[in-house]
Amino acid sequence: MRSLILEGLTGTTAIELGFPFSSIREYCSGKRLAVITDSTVYRLHGDSFPEGQTAVLGSGEFSKNLGTVGEIYEFFLSQELDRSSCVVGIGGGVVCDIAGFCASTYLRGVPFGYVPTTFLAQVDASVGGKNGVNLKSYKNLIGTFNQPQFVLCDFKLLRTLPEKEVSNGFAEVIKHALIGNSSLFSQLEENHERIMSLDEDILEEIVNASLQVKIEVVSQDEKENGYRRILNFGHTIGHGVEKTLGLSHGESVSIGMVMEAGLSAMKGKLYPKTVGRIKGILENFGLSVKASLDKVALIDAIWKDKKREDDEIHCVLLEGIGSAKLDRIKIEELEELFDDLCEYC
Ligand code: GLY
Repeated sequence: MRSLILEGLTGTTAIELGFPFSSIREYCSGKRLAVITDSTVYRLHGDSFPEGQTAVLGSGEFSKNLGTVGEIYEFFLSQELDRSSCVVGIGGGVVCDIAGFCASTYLRGVPFGYVPTTFLAQVDASVGGKNGVNLKSYKNLIGTFNQPQFVLCDFKLLRTLPEKEVSNGFAEVIKHALIGNSSLFSQLEENHERIMSLDEDILEEIVNASLQVKIEVVSQDEKENGYRRILNFGHTIGHGVEKTLGLSHGESVSIGMVMEAGLSAMKGKLYPKTVGRIKGILENFGLSVKASLDKVALIDAIWKDKKREDDEIHCVLLEGIGSAKLDRIKIEELEELFDDLCEYC
């Protein structure tokens, strides 16, 4: 068990790794508690939930909208929540995003924390203070930056996840290694079988190293005015892949990382053989590195992306394993390079 601290301008988060889910009672003792979860998590783990009222959402991205937010505000009202209460999101990224948004806006802010139940939520969504919901087809269009008070990562919760779900989380761990920790990358390369078997000791080490990269970035630029964009490595193309092919977030980011590593090589910043090494590690963690992409649809999705500014899109280039730099590229240039980038996939 170990703890990490994220000191943000909007609050401090205690991130507890390897702590049992039941220790949540210690974090919220004496407080009126409102739990938000989804139907899958409630079915699997509801028996171990803390005492208090629970709002159970439908599982999946379709719940992440303002209609659900309205229902949760009504739930808070019926529970007579006040600013001394505590909201706890127990679930994956969707639950954490909605719970954090509702807690941040109800009464202009009620304390909140998360128990992330997917690996992707443990290594990304629950940490860093972003929350929000979708509007129409636009992801996370409405939201706030506000740090949770605690994040409890109980690795035993991962045992009920399908292997593909676990792989999805590793896309973000590998991303953190690529942008900021070369020894984490080597450790992932050397021990992938033990890590994928969800051995808790090694998982704790890996998640600790991975989150340290994220915490270091978020502490410097919590509200994403610049440097935090480094966390978008693989996401410039990855979000386009997710939108056009409907692949999972992890699979899409994996393909995005291969292509953006390829872009780094084409710009002379990365040895082409390093792209091969990156593809190897992604495959070892059960992630896709190939897809048949529709150029027109993908470029159209990039035009509609939040990361676009005029005719350019923010992107992240690798300068080696563990070292990355922010850049921008004209979308027209990306379109011209597209066929060559696809050669990497
Ligand atoms: N998932 C990227 C970020 O938190 O900024």
